[in-house]
Amino acid sequence: MASDSNDEQIITPWKVTSKSGIDYMKLIDKFGCDPITGNLIERFERVTCMKAHPWIRRGIFFSQKDFSIILDEYEKGHNIYIYTGRGPSSHAMHLGHIVPFSFTAYLQKAFQAVVIIQMSDDEKFHFKGQEEGRSLDEYNRLTYENAKDIISCGFDPSRTLIFSNLATFGGQLYENVAKLMAVTGNQIRGIYGLTLDSSVGQLSWPCFQCAPSYSSSFPEIFHKDSKNYLVRPDGTKTYIGRQIHCLVPMAIDQDPYFRMARDFAEKYKNKGYIKPATIHSKFLVGLGGINAKMSSTGGQPVIFMTDDIKSINKKIMSAFSGGQDTRELQELLGANLEVDVAYQYLIYFLGDDAQLKDIAEQYKTGKMLSGQVKKILSNIICDIVKNHQAVRSKITNDVLFSFFDKNKEFNFTREDRDPIELESVDTYASYGINFNPYFGLL
Ligand code: TRP
Repeated sequence: MASDSNDEQIITPWKVTSKSGIDYMKLIDKFGCDPITGNLIERFERVTCMKAHPWIRRGIFFSQKDFSIILDEYEKGHNIYIYTGRGPSSHAMHLGHIVPFSFTAYLQKAFQAVVIIQMSDDEKFHFKGQEEGRSLDEYNRLTYENAKDIISCGFDPSRTLIFSNLATFGGQLYENVAKLMAVTGNQIRGIYGLTLDSSVGQLSWPCFQCAPSYSSSFPEIFHKDSKNYLVRPDGTKTYIGRQIHCLVPMAIDQDPYFRMARDFAEKYKNKGYIKPATIHSKFLVGLGGINAKMSSTGGQPVIFMTDDIKSINKKIMSAFSGGQDTRELQELLGANLEVDVAYQYLIYFLGDDAQLKDIAEQYKTGKMLSGQVKKILSNIICDIVKNHQAVRSKITNDVLFSFFDKNKEFNFTREDRDPIELESVDTYASYGINFNPYFGLL
């Protein structure tokens, strides 16, 4: 079941609530995923010749399925691709939205891989259209606005396709949707908690999110030179050969889609389908406290990528603090790092472990005050947002359209990299799900 009222936590693609912070280990269990361990991180660095992203090292991307198969494929020199997406629901994206895309851009570099980004304007219409009073066209317009924010996360135009569902479904992408639609209403209810009161658009939506995780949905990109095609009387073609592996980075609430996508691929493996591999992140908590994720609709302040420095400062200063109420008490008792939102954000955005540890020590022992920690965070976030805005403002229409052009030459070349220096076994063992962001200070 997707939701369980006896459960402290409810995690579905539409709802994320928990009474006392999300128990991510319980989710790994419940969703049948595997944790990201030090061994996997070591292998990732050895195979890609790239340092693991701080978000992998620090257990923010904490869970996966078949990630090692992606490493196997990459090691053999085979092409893989990466698929992720965004429902364009608001004009401005916030800091939490940027996390999966910055990470995906990093994975693109690590694997030198093609990335496919689905802009699910139809999804947002089905799920948000009524409450937000927005038309289908408006969500479509937001696709192109949000795409600029996504591009600003650092994607390579020669290796990236962004597509709007409204403008694109058809051909073999739709063929895969049609096949996926053999799923029954009961299965959809079981996986997502939707009911017969849900609209048909909502009930059928999962098939549309799953289809791009099969490379046969993009035969002109991934299987151009193959001879394994059926040719129809009108000359159009369908790819029927073996497909290539797909890796889907996402926040953990999106996993139900890919369990369904994996089940389907398992059923059709003798027709060339391959189960997509996944890698999942935790949620960036909201400024109001660690029990809610950052959300534009939760009533808490949110850091938008369009904010100016003054308002970022103000919002961060208002964040829930784990410090004591007065300087005297703080010096005496120190801060509770676990509930301190500014500290939680530093775990994401201050990449240097030594610096983070130093702040943890000083703040925990009362040598640092909440305002000082917030100031450090504010400077970091302001730099990230300023840089994002600078990059975004330079995106011309030509650049934007080149990301949406599926007929361009995609770059599948790969350069050899020199091996990097690896860490000790013990160091890797302290990474991933074993990473202690409080450095043993709690
Ligand atoms: N459903 C996602 C959202 O609401 C958008 C999305 C579409 C997506 N395709 C995806 C997310 C693939 C992760 C992977 O924002």
